[in-house]
Amino acid sequence: MAGRIPQSFIDELVNRIDIVEVIDARVPLKKAGREFQACCPFHNEKTPSFTVSPTKQFYHCFGCGAHGTAIGFLMEFDHLEFPEAVEELAKMAGVEVPYEQGQRATPQQREQKTNLYDLMANCDKYYRQQLRQHAKASVAVDYLKGRGLSGEVAARYGLGYAPPGNNLLHALGNQFSQQLVTTGMLIRKDNGETYDRFRERIMFPIRDSRGRVIAFGGRVINPDDDAQGGANAAEGRKPGAAGPKYLNSPETPLFHKGRELYGLYEARQALRQISRLLVVEGYMDVIALAQQDINYAVAALGTACTAEHVQKLFRLTDDVVFCFDGDRAGREAAWRALENALPVVGGTNQVRFMFLPEGEDPDTQVQKIGKEAFEALIQQAQSLSTYFFSRLREGISRHDLEGHRTLIEKARPYLQALNDEAYRSLLVRELASYTHQNEATVQDQLGLVAKTRQARPVSTGLKKEPPSLVRTALRYLLFHPEVAQQVDNPRSLAQIEQPGIGLLVDLLETLQSAPTLNTAALLERWRNTEEGKHLEKLATWQPSLNDPESLQQEFLGAIARLEEQHRSSRTDALLAKANQGQLSAEEKAELKTLLQRRQAVDPNGN
Ligand code: UTP
Ligand code: MN
Repeated sequence: MAGRIPQSFIDELVNRIDIVEVIDARVPLKKAGREFQACCPFHNEKTPSFTVSPTKQFYHCFGCGAHGTAIGFLMEFDHLEFPEAVEELAKMAGVEVPYEQGQRATPQQREQKTNLYDLMANCDKYYRQQLRQHAKASVAVDYLKGRGLSGEVAARYGLGYAPPGNNLLHALGNQFSQQLVTTGMLIRKDNGETYDRFRERIMFPIRDSRGRVIAFGGRVINPDDDAQGGANAAEGRKPGAAGPKYLNSPETPLFHKGRELYGLYEARQALRQISRLLVVEGYMDVIALAQQDINYAVAALGTACTAEHVQKLFRLTDDVVFCFDGDRAGREAAWRALENALPVVGGTNQVRFMFLPEGEDPDTQVQKIGKEAFEALIQQAQSLSTYFFSRLREGISRHDLEGHRTLIEKARPYLQALNDEAYRSLLVRELASYTHQNEATVQDQLGLVAKTRQARPVSTGLKKEPPSLVRTALRYLLFHPEVAQQVDNPRSLAQIEQPGIGLLVDLLETLQSAPTLNTAALLERWRNTEEGKHLEKLATWQPSLNDPESLQQEFLGAIARLEEQHRSSRTDALLAKANQGQLSAEEKAELKTLLQRRQAVDPNGN
């Protein structure tokens, strides 16, 4: 559970804020009956299947299965960590978040992190100012102009200039030296002195999803470069007198390379609806594309695109296109991207692969052919399966058995990495057609065991078979938490042997001790637990009969039958004990009552 923020505060906060307001400020909602609707912000769609329930304080998309509370929404949509999302809601509600002492981060540590953000903002401001003011900045400005950038685009990406020499301490204040080292802006030498990491470079601020500057990239300025900026990556990576072509901030408390994508914040600022995201290699590629009004490019920061990156992109769009240089390095990078994407593709989420002509990168290519032709190239990007099989089949002859077996062997580990059953069968089908065999034979040869993991619940999370009693009770409790007050002595149910019974008892007891909790607040109590995931799915349930009375009867009926099960197994246990003559006086009395009851309910003893 939540850890350092007291649960009581989260209960209160979630009860107090309105999820409709929270979401509506980011995704305009329309009223539809008792709920609110919009086109889902987490996948691309034309008809709204994203619904927000004011009573449950819960959102759910019938299209992609996304769901959660207001806190969960902020975490997904604004890419916030849990405490940040709580902070954000608290700000809306006008309350202070209390922090418990001695837990993960103390208020001091938190304050320090806030200060680090401020400090980075000041570094950013300083670099941008230098680009306008510094005596030597004209070289940088000319360089950027030479690469075709307008002042408007440079401003949008916050480009700056780090002058030669050591300036930051002086500009920001000596008292910040330690924090500047922590954020990677200064490097401390063995003798304790510090120097600026970025000197005489063009500065690219890296922003997180809230637009806060968390790191920088810095490029050397070589005015001798041709206007294309030297597309040859291998050449560029050779450290010259001025150091490597690009320097990046190290991992810091604010910056985790494997998680951040350059240009994502700017893309979200520029576009209302992101229908597609293009993953390119470099800072300048992102910016050059924006210069040509292609505002949906992002770059992984000098690392391969991780599964976490791809997942982050899929929260915004279901069409992710990787764009690679046509050279050998580009092809290798593409294959790595494919490997990393496999666990997260499926459903409506697709990744595609686009290869540029040898010697071009997106920057040079878009300048050469313009927006329309470049977008036509994106349009022609290969699907994952096309790329996957064409690469696997390289060097394998299609028409002999040996070749077929090799292909299947090569495909096996990749198919295993897939988490989406439907997508896997699709690839198996293609593999079958390439090898002229039927799917079952291929399945056999692959020896793949179907993963038990359930596919994403597409509609209501309801299974085909009638729900168990526990499930019936749980989902109604989440639908209408007040009903918990009508259950006497939930603890007695705990002894029944039924999956989920413990959770049901916990839920009932929680609600009885905190009767005002709404669905969302209840779910927050189970955040970060396996049970919590299960509960969230159940909370997506939409009862088909719109008759509150009979729904409630269904719930009470389920509880009654569970109680009956408990009585019956208790009776059996006591009878067995009685047969061995081991009953205490109390147990005898209990058994008597139970037997009378059994007689009354079921006179035939069935
Ligand atoms: P490239 O060398 O392809 O550079 O590196 P580029 O993006 O085309 O840059 P220009 O056009 O010459 O200005 C691609 C990415 O690899 C990382 C950077 O993130 C860069 O944007 N890189 C490259 C480094 O981190 N360090 C380097 O020395 C070079
Ligand atoms: Mn380039």
